[in-house]
Amino acid sequence: MKIKNTLNNCEKYTFSQNYGIINLSEKEAPGQRKLSEEKAGMDVEITLDKTDEVSRADEIDEMDQADEVDSWKEVMLIYTSALKQIETKLEILNDEFQHVHRYNPIEHIKSRIKTSESIVKKLKKNGYESTIPNMIQHVNDIAGIRVICSFTSDIYRIADMISDQKDVKVLKVKDYITFPKPSGYKSYHMIIMIPVYLSDRIVNTKVEIQIRTVAMDFWASLEHKIHYKFEGNAPEHIKNELIECARMVSDLDARMLSLNDEIQAIEEKQEITS
Ligand code: GTP
Ligand code: MG
Repeated sequence: MKIKNTLNNCEKYTFSQNYGIINLSEKEAPGQRKLSEEKAGMDVEITLDKTDEVSRADEIDEMDQADEVDSWKEVMLIYTSALKQIETKLEILNDEFQHVHRYNPIEHIKSRIKTSESIVKKLKKNGYESTIPNMIQHVNDIAGIRVICSFTSDIYRIADMISDQKDVKVLKVKDYITFPKPSGYKSYHMIIMIPVYLSDRIVNTKVEIQIRTVAMDFWASLEHKIHYKFEGNAPEHIKNELIECARMVSDLDARMLSLNDEIQAIEEKQEITS
């Protein structure tokens, strides 16, 4: 298991009688460890054979690992549920938009759960120990959803519709549409919190939402591939070409939006006159 709980109570468990494997002996034999314990109102000596200690430690290690696997599975189930909820919300909003405006702002949706390897890598990069509490607190994109739309105006429309939901709390927004990255990257990022209802409790869960146009997504996919291939050090001419492509993407998005606005205006006019 990659993600480990801080298991500072191992020692306590190692010598606990709960596991029913502690030897009682009057003498401390070589290679044995002596413990004192109050039992049935009188002091008795508990000695622990080192070989037993090892097997107990192994056994406890296995139990701890089983506990960790359980916690890991539970946490992942919660993130998966949060993703499902956001996806459903977006689908409902899209359907409603279609019903009211006869138009779908969402082209398609992609979602993913971050792999354990990526979570550990991110925690390490930011100087945190690989524990479940740390990943919950410090990794905002364990549950990630990407909303792809046709036009730039749809991005803000979708962002507003999400923010307006009563049970959604917006924790952070990064508007790389208005303020693109120097690389040319454009996208609208939100970290939101959504309650996941379990049988015995409600868990507020973070989800990263990235909203961008089809053209921006096309650019980001290629740029990501290039970034990965050159490990962040792409040759200067490729970087410049990407910046140029980003300009073309912005231009294309602006022209497509303006075309769409024009078509919509014509349609509205026709509806009024008919
Ligand atoms: P991480 O990059 O995930 O550590 O988060 P951050 O705190 O820097 O947040 P930010 O909102 O800037 O980026 C979140 C995600 O957006 C990244 O993990 C990428 O998926 C994507 N992203 C950000 N910048 C770029 C970029 O320049 N190019 C591409 N292709 N994707 C980017
Ligand atoms: Mg990320």
